[in-house]
Amino acid sequence: MKVLIVGSGGREHAIAWKVAQSSRVEKIYCAPGNAGIEEYAQCVPIGAMEFDKLAAFAKEEQIDLTVIGMDDPLVGGIVDVFEAEGLRVFGPRKNAAILEGSKAFSKDLMKKYNIPTAAYENFTDPRAALEYLETAKFPIVLKADGLALGKGVLICNTLEEAQAGVREIMEDKKFGSAGNTMVVEEFMTGREVSVLTYVDGKTIKPMTSAQDHKRAMDGDQGLNTGGMGTFSPSPFYTEEVDAFCKQHIYQATVDAMAAEGREFKGIIFFGLMLTEEGPKVLEYNARFGDPEAQVVLPRMKTDIVDVFEACIDGTLDQVDLQFEDNAAVCVVLASDGYPVAYEKGFPIHGLEKFKDKEGYYVFHAGTAKKDGQIVTNGGRVLGVVAKGENLKKARANAYEAIDLVEFENKYYRHDIGKAIDEA
Ligand code: AMP
Ligand code: GLY
Repeated sequence: MKVLIVGSGGREHAIAWKVAQSSRVEKIYCAPGNAGIEEYAQCVPIGAMEFDKLAAFAKEEQIDLTVIGMDDPLVGGIVDVFEAEGLRVFGPRKNAAILEGSKAFSKDLMKKYNIPTAAYENFTDPRAALEYLETAKFPIVLKADGLALGKGVLICNTLEEAQAGVREIMEDKKFGSAGNTMVVEEFMTGREVSVLTYVDGKTIKPMTSAQDHKRAMDGDQGLNTGGMGTFSPSPFYTEEVDAFCKQHIYQATVDAMAAEGREFKGIIFFGLMLTEEGPKVLEYNARFGDPEAQVVLPRMKTDIVDVFEACIDGTLDQVDLQFEDNAAVCVVLASDGYPVAYEKGFPIHGLEKFKDKEGYYVFHAGTAKKDGQIVTNGGRVLGVVAKGENLKKARANAYEAIDLVEFENKYYRHDIGKAIDEA
């Protein structure tokens, strides 16, 4: 089989690595890819939003399966374009990717189908939002409706902060048209857990759980980022929590989408908050998490190409989805200054030390090749992943492994997975 992967980050590197394990795959392409993905795939210089060019490439190269890694093309309808050309593609159509593309849509869906989530109101008029906030309880959460690179969420402690937030999102359009509609949501407290699932329109199969660390600095201080590190599984995601989510959240979401005429095939990523009243949905994403994929996929035993095809064909109920009974930790190596301002273009040394090192992986997020040398090319540069028999061991291994790679202005958090100690 020939497989095309669309995307260019650490998540797509992990997907490419996992697809390369499949005995059914002869050749992998990645568009646009990055310097690390080149180890498994031929990278082609077509952007993830160039749907017609991508579909033409897939036809010309007789690609058997295309896997969409990123949210923007999914929300933009890449799957519909591929399907119209008769191409096989893994991911939700545009009318289902709205589950991630519009927070107002997803909140209304959860309300209609009694899926546990924070109380909320949607607003299209900033004056109405400001009036509502006058009598609201604080802290409160403001969310731009659309995609905003994970940055369109403001947690406001006071009325003044919330008023400024409404201006930023709805009037100054800090997140562009994503802020035409805004969700105002009750603030929840508890542990956060990410659960990625495979979905074939009817059947849903959860993968092993994970937890992200979104803030830039140790102790969950500093600005929100794309994610500074992850661990899997989450010790807080107990069998009891799992049973509750399976009954009230996972299948309910798939059934709700089907009932709305928006059959969902692909990945649903459930961002959950384990509150005192039980698990509630923080958000949905329509793709693998980044850097959740980097700790979940190395622990997956089942051939991923079989699972992708079962999702497309509606036969996921026949798949025996298996994960290793161990743990993994990913520490993101970033450029100092991320997520604000940082220098790039520094040579990266030591990457070869990960070759054939069993249970260790280095997934590239922002790298490039310059004169034959791999250099830093982004805020998040690499995700260093290590497995271990349990979380503590995996964490010790990951922190040992980050010393194998060096580049100027290397920055990372020292406390990825520290929550494990409290479990
Ligand atoms: P989201 O993009 O919706 O996942 O929001 C980003 C982050 O904001 C989440 O990972 C949470 O840490 C936080 N957050 C979002 N919604 C809420 C909420 N209702 N209560 C508390 N924290 C929230
Ligand atoms: N790690 C969070 C996300 O992928 O949205």
